[in-house]
Amino acid sequence: MLELDQFTITEVALDQMAATKDRRLHEIMGAAVRHLHEFAREVDLKPHELFEGLRFLTEVGHKSTPHRQEFILLSEVLGLETVVNILNDLRPKERPTRSSILGPFYVANAPELELGKSLSPSGNHQEIALYGRVTDSAGRPIGNAVVEVWQTDEEGLYDVQRHDELDLRGRFHTDAEGRYYLRSIRPLGYSIPMDGPVGDLIRAQGRHGMRPAHVHFLVGAPGFKDVTTAFYLRNDIYIDSDTVFGVTESLIREIEDPDPSSPLPDLPGVNFDFTLLTANQAGERGQAEVVVGR
Ligand code: BEZ
Ligand code: FE
Repeated sequence: MLELDQFTITEVALDQMAATKDRRLHEIMGAAVRHLHEFAREVDLKPHELFEGLRFLTEVGHKSTPHRQEFILLSEVLGLETVVNILNDLRPKERPTRSSILGPFYVANAPELELGKSLSPSGNHQEIALYGRVTDSAGRPIGNAVVEVWQTDEEGLYDVQRHDELDLRGRFHTDAEGRYYLRSIRPLGYSIPMDGPVGDLIRAQGRHGMRPAHVHFLVGAPGFKDVTTAFYLRNDIYIDSDTVFGVTESLIREIEDPDPSSPLPDLPGVNFDFTLLTANQAGERGQAEVVVGR
């Protein structure tokens, strides 16, 4: 029997996992073990620190419910979800619209609305128009694509944080030219949920926990890979320091006022176009259809 040291333990652990039948599981777990061991060696991790880390993860689990995804939040504040999104966006040789954080406030059964309708039935606040086109990578329009939209109100809250009624979210279908257009209100930035272990971590790291103002979109069509994304407003004070790293330059927009090129030119407007890749271009061979609205 080998006398283990801090390096040979890694080989011994990997050897014991060598019979894993699923090749991808083998690859992922092998890399995870190598990196975890290297991390412990790099920081010279002490036993009480390991147990503090495990206590933190246990608390993250206890805080999680079907409506409160503390583990997803953790992966977002660590930048992990964004690394995975970037890898996924940049893998194909054609470029789709860049993706961004889905976040915990997506609701699958948003109301179906006709083009030009308002996301907010109350309509008391300053309206803006959101509009654009959905095309394939050659710029050809995708008609009847599904465009789902959700956003905060003028106080930075989502409907589900206030009450049971759905508000400021809707599901639209593009016209034959791939166009969508709708009325909404100016979104406001907000804080991620700070009342759990992830919030404690954010405070311990001296971070503000804020997201810049944005509007979420989930766009898809039969035969195309759907895109989960958002646009972010350039003049928001948190535009360069989003706590969950969702912002990238190509997703930044301004509210144009006036906006003569908008299909709703009486309102200030934001233009946000989408390029979708086919399932084949996205490297998802065998997946005939990717449908929005899980
Ligand atoms: C959101 O954009 O809705 C969001 C993303 C991450 C954490 C909290 C909220
Ligand atoms: Fe959001």
